Amino acid sequence: MVMISFNNVCKIYSGKKVFYDTSINIKKGDFIFLTGESGSGKTTFLRLISALEKPDKGDILVDDLSITKLNNNEISDYRKSVGIIMQDNYFVEDRTVNYNISLPLLVSHRKEINRKIRAVLDLVNLNNQGNKIIQSLSAGERQRVAIARAIIHRPNIILADEPTGNLDQNLSKSIINMLIKLSQYGATVVVATHEFNLVRELQQKIINISNEKIISE
Ligand SMILES: Nc1ncnc2c1ncn2[C@@H]1O[C@H](COP(=O)(O)OP(=O)(O)O)[C@@H](O)[C@H]1O
Ligand SMILES: [Mg+2]
Repeated sequence: MVMISFNNVCKIYSGKKVFYDTSINIKKGDFIFLTGESGSGKTTFLRLISALEKPDKGDILVDDLSITKLNNNEISDYRKSVGIIMQDNYFVEDRTVNYNISLPLLVSHRKEINRKIRAVLDLVNLNNQGNKIIQSLSAGERQRVAIARAIIHRPNIILADEPTGNLDQNLSKSIINMLIKLSQYGATVVVATHEFNLVRELQQKIINISNEKIISE
């Protein structure tokens, strides 16, 4: 089943074509490495899927819904089904892990929030670490908290933009393996990276961006 579909998408920034007439399908439950040189359009691709940007031409369907035609209310609803891990993860540094990952759940019931926090901390192997203050965490732990925060709504789609940017090789691998595990639970996961060694080693599906085109391998 197709989860994300780009149909003849063009994206142009002040005269520079990032994507030109690009079509691609990503299946439900896929784990995809999104590769390409710096400046090739990886972040733009993820921003298009999260409806933070609109294409200049063409259409993007997510679970059969055309996300290019949504109004602002519909977009904020849609975003609840997308978990995003950005290049820079902003946290409230002097508050706990629990506080930070429960921020997207503002209006939920306390008991429900605690149950959800326990479940996501378990998934990212940070059981019983919820009371730690963010600024006391290691780089690898911070990245796992970012994943926990992104998945607390149980999103169908998880997008990660260079999530291993400043981690060593072993930590990078464990972060990616965690995201692969989430795809095995049914989420569609797209991870932008330019770490070709990691991509080669982990043997997952690849979408490569070059010369305004997307090539699926
Ligand atoms: N908001 C923007 N305004 C103008 N140009 C942009 C904007 N965002 C990205 N670009 C340009 O689009 C191209 C692709 O950028 P980006 O998607 O960030 O690439 P990557 O993530 O692969 O490094 C680059 O040439 C970049 O300068
Ligand atoms: Mg980028």
